[in-house]
Amino acid sequence: MWAAGEAYEPYVGRWSRLVAAEFVRRLGLAPGGSWRDIGCGTGAIARAVLDAAAPRDVTGVDPAESYVRHARRHVADPRAHFVLGDARALPFPDARASAAVSGLVLNFVPDPARAAAEMVRVVAPGGTVGAYLWDFGEGGMEAIRTFWDAARALDPRAGALDEAVRFPLCGRTPLRELLTGAGLAEVETDAITVPTRFRDFDDYWGPFLGGQGPAPGYVASLPEGHRTELRERLRTALPTASDGSVHLTARAWTAWGARPSG
Ligand SMILES: C[S@@+](CC[C@H](N)C(=O)[O-])C[C@H]1O[C@@H](n2cnc3c(N)ncnc32)[C@H](O)[C@@H]1O
Repeated sequence: MWAAGEAYEPYVGRWSRLVAAEFVRRLGLAPGGSWRDIGCGTGAIARAVLDAAAPRDVTGVDPAESYVRHARRHVADPRAHFVLGDARALPFPDARASAAVSGLVLNFVPDPARAAAEMVRVVAPGGTVGAYLWDFGEGGMEAIRTFWDAARALDPRAGALDEAVRFPLCGRTPLRELLTGAGLAEVETDAITVPTRFRDFDDYWGPFLGGQGPAPGYVASLPEGHRTELRERLRTALPTASDGSVHLTARAWTAWGARPSG
């Protein structure tokens, strides 16, 4: 599902960067920190940390080789490092980081509680652990919500693949409970909403053909005729401006807290 960093960028990468920048801004952590970006993908949060948080260093970890390679190539900064690894067994020592953060990842990890515990383990007492996930429901990540609504109308099989159904963790309360359950103190939650503006219909549809993530994976599984039918249904369903552009928004739920001191 996650095998081509180049194809991820136009699908979700271009929007996750906007969320990452706002997330790092809201955390408002002191300069000079040592950050870990869990499930770094192509490096959206690492880039935002370098741009806005004046870190001492930031290390991203992800199991997908292609994404790690992409991040190394595109986030070229002596303070940035990218390594292969799994959120359930982070390749970092205990209590060294000032922040461990993760964007759009924990719903894909088979044991998110284990991943949250690992994030707490690697930060020093008083350090920050934070995460965000797309809201796949109504009024959330509209580009993907619209996709699943159209897919479900054409194919009952799509109901079980809909990310709103598959990923109950992607809500404000479940995410807060995950971090509280990992032992964080004073967990705060918030929504981050970003504009997702597509030049035209092809700019919306093309990235669904790239195979990265559940919805593009579903498209790849369809026979040609069904794929065309889905494409045309989406063309009709999307709100299109007079110049052909499509303006949607995407909401992520975010939660963060501190590892208790002592
Ligand atoms: C939607 S992408 C998010 C990437 C990046 N954080 C961003 O915001 O653009 C999901 C990422 O989770 C990673 N991932 C999936 N399972 C994982 C696991 N068990 N441990 C760590 N990362 C994982 C994937 O390889 C992929 O890079």
